[in-house]
Amino acid sequence: MLTDNFGRKFYYLRLSITDVCNFRCNYCLPDGYQCDHDRDFLSFAEIQRVAKAFGQLGTEKIRITGGEPSLRKDLPDIIAACKQTEHIKKVALTSNGYKLPEHINPWLDAGLDALNISIDSLDPRQFHAITGHDKLPKILKGIDMALASGKTSVKINTVLMREFNGYDIKTYLDWLKDTPVTLRFIELMQTGDNQDFFNKQHVQASRIKQNLLLDGWLPSIRDKSSGPAQEFYHPDYQGKVGLIMPYSKDFCNTCNRLRISALGKLHLCLFTEAGLSLKEYLQQDDVEPLKQQIVAMMSDKKATHFLHDKITGATKNLAMLGG
Ligand code: GTP
Ligand code: 5AD
Ligand code: SF4
Repeated sequence: MLTDNFGRKFYYLRLSITDVCNFRCNYCLPDGYQCDHDRDFLSFAEIQRVAKAFGQLGTEKIRITGGEPSLRKDLPDIIAACKQTEHIKKVALTSNGYKLPEHINPWLDAGLDALNISIDSLDPRQFHAITGHDKLPKILKGIDMALASGKTSVKINTVLMREFNGYDIKTYLDWLKDTPVTLRFIELMQTGDNQDFFNKQHVQASRIKQNLLLDGWLPSIRDKSSGPAQEFYHPDYQGKVGLIMPYSKDFCNTCNRLRISALGKLHLCLFTEAGLSLKEYLQQDDVEPLKQQIVAMMSDKKATHFLHDKITGATKNLAMLGG
C-alpha cells in the first residue's frame, strides 16, 4: 500500500494519456493551447506497466484523464488494459464528452465503471461561449445513453464562473430532480495564465453549500473512496450535488490520489509544477525497479498545497494533467 509521511493512503491513480484537447474552455485554454502533436506521450505498453506497478502497490482505481483522452484512438484498449490489470477494481474516465454518443458503447464494452463529463452550462448559448463548441445536445444525449446502460455511474463537472454560470444554480438543481448524476460545482482554480480571468470570475462554493443546507440537502457520509467533493443528497432529487473547494483549509487532509502525466512524470500534487520522471523505468517489462522508484518518491509528498490563506497560487498542470 502506498502511504505518505502524513499517514494518507493512496488507492487512486489519475493517469493522463495525452495533453492535447479539442475544446478551448475559457477557464482552461483561453489563448489556445500550444500543443505539440509529436510529443512523446505514454505508449500503450508504458501505460500497461504503470497500471501493473500501481496495482501491485495497492491502487484500486484508475481514472484516465487528458487533455481530452478520447483523442487517442487506442482509448478503448487502454480502458480494457487497466480493467484487466490485477488488483484494479474500478476504471474511470474524465472527458469533455465530445462525440459521447459514438464513444460510450465501446468504452462500456471495454469495462468502464465511472464517467465524469464537463458541462459548464446547461444553456446552449452559454455553453458555446465557454467551450467554443455547440455540442451540448450531443453530450446530453450521450449522458442519457450512459445512464440507460446501467453500467456506469455519471458525474458532471461544472466550473463555477461568476458571469457565465454563477446565476444558473437553480437550472442545474431542477435538472437533478429526475437525472441520477452527481453534479459537482468546482471552484475555479488559478492557473499560470488566467490571473485576470480568475480575479473576475472566481466564486466561492461555500455560498452554495449554505443554500443547499437551507433547502433540505443533507451531507453524504464520506468513505475511503470519497474524492475531493463534499457531497449532498436530497430525498426529492434523483441526482446528488458535490462541491469541490480546493482552496478550503482542510481540502488536502483527505488527499487520496496520485497523478501520472502523459509524459510519464509522477505528480504528488496537482499544484506541484515539476513532476518526477518515471520514463526510464517504464522501458522494461519487469516493474520491480519502477515500483521501488515510486515508493521512494512518496516521501516528497507535502502535507498540503499551502494555498488556503489567500486565494492565490497557480498550477500550470490543469490542462496537462486533466485536473
Ligand atoms: P472521482 O472522485 O474519481 O470522481 O474523481 P474527481 O472528482 O477527482 O475527478 P474529475 O476528473 O472529474 O475532477 C473534478 C475536478 O476536481 C477537477 O477540476 C480536478 O482538477 C479537481 N480535483 C480532483 N482532485 C483534485 C486534487 O487532488 N486537488 C485539486 N486541487 N483538485 C482536484
Ligand atoms: N479550475 C477548476 N477546474 C478546472 N478544470 C479545468 N480547468 C480548471 C480550472 N482552472 C476542470 C474541468 C474538468 C476537470 C477535469 O477539470 O472542468 O471537468
Ligand atoms: Fe479541454 Fe478539459 Fe481544458 Fe476544457 S477543461 S479545454 S475540455 S482540457
